[in-house]
Amino acid sequence: MCGIVGYVGKRNSQEVLIEGLKKLEYRGYDSAGIAVFTEGGLQIRKSKGRLAILESQLQQAPLSGGIGIGHTRWATHGKPSDINSHPHTDNSQKFSVVHNGIIENYIALKEELQAQGHVFVSETDTEVISHLIASLYDGDIVKAVQQAVKRMKGAFALGVLTEYEPEKLVAVRLQSPLIIGVGEGENFIGSDIPAILEYTRNVYILNDGEMALLTKDGVELMTIEGNFISRETFHVDWDITTAEKAGFDHFMLKEIHEQPKAYRDTMSSRIDESGRKVILNEVKMTPEQIRGIRNIHIVACGTAYHAGLVGKTVIEHLARIPVETDVASEYRYRSPIITPETLVIVVSQSGETADTLAALREARRCGARVLAITNVVGSSVAREADDVIFTWAGPEIAVASTKAYTSQLIAFYLLGLYLAQTLETQEEAYIAELIAAMQQLPGKVEALLAQAETVKQVAEQVAKHDNLFFIGRGLDYAIALEGSLKLKEISYIHSEAYAAGELKHGTLALIEEGIPVIALATQPDLFEKTVSNIKEVTARGAYVIGLHTEGDNELAKTVDQTFAIPETLPLLMPALSIIPLQLLSYYASLARGNDVDKPRNLAKSVTVE
Ligand code: F6R
Repeated sequence: MCGIVGYVGKRNSQEVLIEGLKKLEYRGYDSAGIAVFTEGGLQIRKSKGRLAILESQLQQAPLSGGIGIGHTRWATHGKPSDINSHPHTDNSQKFSVVHNGIIENYIALKEELQAQGHVFVSETDTEVISHLIASLYDGDIVKAVQQAVKRMKGAFALGVLTEYEPEKLVAVRLQSPLIIGVGEGENFIGSDIPAILEYTRNVYILNDGEMALLTKDGVELMTIEGNFISRETFHVDWDITTAEKAGFDHFMLKEIHEQPKAYRDTMSSRIDESGRKVILNEVKMTPEQIRGIRNIHIVACGTAYHAGLVGKTVIEHLARIPVETDVASEYRYRSPIITPETLVIVVSQSGETADTLAALREARRCGARVLAITNVVGSSVAREADDVIFTWAGPEIAVASTKAYTSQLIAFYLLGLYLAQTLETQEEAYIAELIAAMQQLPGKVEALLAQAETVKQVAEQVAKHDNLFFIGRGLDYAIALEGSLKLKEISYIHSEAYAAGELKHGTLALIEEGIPVIALATQPDLFEKTVSNIKEVTARGAYVIGLHTEGDNELAKTVDQTFAIPETLPLLMPALSIIPLQLLSYYASLARGNDVDKPRNLAKSVTVE
C-alpha cells in the first residue's frame, strides 16, 4: 500500500521524509521518492526498489530545504519503475504531487490534458493530477487543488507542493487515509500515524472531502469546497507497533477490517456510470476470442484455489462456459486437456507462487490464453499472463489471507459479468441487478464487522475443542472449505469441511456428542437439503452453529446457535458469509495464544514447489 509523508518546518525535510517513509515500510512498497523545495527550486529524487537505494542516491546528491513530500509506491497503474515512482510533476516541473489511491477517470483527464499540449512521461494515474493542478493554477495553490479535486473521480489522498508558493504544503483526503501532525514551528502529513510519531503525537485526522494547508507556523483545515473547519487535535498514545496496525492488535484483524475498502477499490472504475455494465479494460481478449472459449480451467493454491471454486460457479452460472478448478500442484501432473480454445485463469495474491506459475507456463506452452487474477503489479504471474485483473486489496501482511481472498471473489464476479455481457448469456436487467447488489456489499461487510464481539464469544467456545466440522452445499461448501482452512492455519484446531450431503458416506462416523459443526445454509435453493443434513449431525449429538440469511426463521429450529448474514443475491453470498468465519479463526487463534499473523510452519509467499 502506498505511503505518504510531508514536512514543512525548521528541520531539513530530507531526513524527516526518509525517516517517515522507513516507518511506513511495513505496508509494503516497490519504489520510493521525495521532492524537496531547495534553493535551486523543486527537486525530485526517486527510484524503484527499497528505500536504501533512494538513500544512497541522496547520499551522493543530498537535497536541502525545509519543505518536502515523500512517497512509497505499491504499484497499481503501471509497473514498478523509476519513472512511475512518486512524486510526479508537470511539464514545467513547478508542481509536485504524491498520491495514494486510484483516480478512476484518469484516462479521460489525460486525453483532455494531452489535447492541451501536456506531455506525460509515466503510466500512472498520479501524473495526471500534477498536470491538472498546473493547468488550473492562477496564483493560488489551494484554489487550484480544490478545482482539480472536483474534476477527479475515485479514492485518493494527496500531498501537493508548488515552486510558486514555496512555503505551502497542501493535503487532501477523499476515501484514502491522511493525517496531519502538528508540531511547534513545524507540521507534517502522513498516510499513517507511524510516519510522524517520532516528531509529534498531536494529529488532525482528515475526514473524507477535507483538506489542509500547512505552513511551518500553522495548519488550516477546510473542506474541499473551501469552508474552514475548526477541530481539536487528537493525542496519540499508541506505541509504534500499535500505530503500524492502525490500532488493531494484529495485521490480520486490520486486514479483515479493510475489506469494505478492498471491495470498493476492486470494483471502482470497473463499473460504468450507469451501473449496468462492467468494464474490464485490462482484459484484452476481443469479443470474437471470448466467443471462441470452449472451456475454462481455474488454477491456484490454498485460499486462492478456494476463491477459484466460487469463481467456477459464478462463471458457469453467468457465462454458461464449462469450468474446471484445479489445485496448481496437481494440475501439470494430470496431463490436463488444454487447447487453444481453453482459457486458463490463474489466481494468486502474491503472483509468485511456484506451483501457480508453473501451471501458467504449462498452459501457455499448450497454446492456451492465460488470464491472471493477482494482487501484485509487476509480479511474475502478472508479467507472464496474457491478461491481468488486479485485485486492489493493497499489500497483505498477515500470513492468513483475508482481504486478498475476498477481492479475488469480487474479481470473479466482475469477470463473470463481463463474459456474460459479451456472450449475451444473461438479461441486461439481471446483470444490472447483480451490479447493484455488488455495490451494496461493502456496507453489508461493515455491518458484519460490527458484530465481531458476538463471533468472539463463539470462537472462545470453539477454541476449547480439538476437532471441528464445517458443512455446506454449493457455494456454502466452497466457503466451508475456506473457513476450515483459515481456522486450521492460525488456530491449529483440526477441522474438516464437507459437502453437507457427503457426510453420511463415511465421515458421519466421526460425529460424537458435543463436537462443534459450523453449518452454512445461505443458499435458498439448497436450504431444505442442508437442513436435512444438519439433522443428521444434531441427531448424533453435534453442537451446531448455523449461518443463515437475515429474515430466515427456520434454521434456528434445527441448530443450537445461529448467526445471520445480511441478505444479498445468493450468488454474491460468499463475499459476506466468509467474514464471520475469518473473525472466528482470528478469535480462536487469539484464545489459544497463537501468533496470529505468523502461524507456525507457514510462509506468506510459497516460491518452492
Ligand atoms: C492461506 C493462504 C494460502 C495462499 C496460497 C497461495 O490463508 O494465504 O493458502 O492462498 O499459498 O498463495 P498466493 O495467492 O500468493 O498464490
